[in-house]
Amino acid sequence: MSKVLIAGNWKMNGLTSDAAREATALAAGVAGVPHVHLMIAPPTSLIHPLRINLFERGIADRVAIGGQDCHANVNGAHTGDVSAEMIVDLGGSYVIVGHSERRTDHGEGDATVKAKAEAALRAGLVAVVCVGETEAERRGGETLDVLARQVSGSLPDGATVTNTVIAYEPVWAIGTGLTPSTDDIVEAHAGIRETAAGQIDDVANLRILYGGSVKPGNAAELLALDGVDGALVGGASLKAADFLAIAAAAPARN
Ligand code: 13P
Repeated sequence: MSKVLIAGNWKMNGLTSDAAREATALAAGVAGVPHVHLMIAPPTSLIHPLRINLFERGIADRVAIGGQDCHANVNGAHTGDVSAEMIVDLGGSYVIVGHSERRTDHGEGDATVKAKAEAALRAGLVAVVCVGETEAERRGGETLDVLARQVSGSLPDGATVTNTVIAYEPVWAIGTGLTPSTDDIVEAHAGIRETAAGQIDDVANLRILYGGSVKPGNAAELLALDGVDGALVGGASLKAADFLAIAAAAPARN
């Protein structure tokens, strides 16, 4: 099985009716992408409904489910938050931490992201740790420094190539239709891998995903790049046909 992971982040989109419809559409097409791992992170409210729908259509073993965030603690007085253990309880096996929308909207810094990623590992989830530079940082030539700082500050203690995934998501490429040049993506992934090598053994096998305006039309080019081991897809993951088309464009990689 290849190491490629195509992950969908539904963000704050979807009702129970959407989970049922998307599961049906995924069931119709998932046999066409046997060469990649698939994961969908729906809103917390849909983790269980989506899981049930995937089970009913016989594809729960083909499409993993993830949370979009978790609290660092197991439980307690944290109104509105969800713990990694709760995501496991609902059938999740991944959780995204440190997404730029969390970093911006909720003021999460690297130390918070690291604590959340460690909570994910404690609960047995795979942590998908997001990093990425802003437009101003890219213009200022700071991209590689920012990525190095975020990777070294956000990776959990105990990270391995099986329990941790990194997603490179340039903030300015999210939801904008813009993507970095292919050279810039290759350079960023190489820089991330080099920094991660200080914290993770066997770093060649670490999965580093690209995210930011991935669509069926650009997926083949992006996913073929050196050091790109999959994609974290926002808007285009909301339609199973587009999500599956992106997965189909991925090369199989060991
Ligand atoms: P878009 O694919 O909509 O640009 O979003 C990317 C993203 O933020 C995934 O986490």
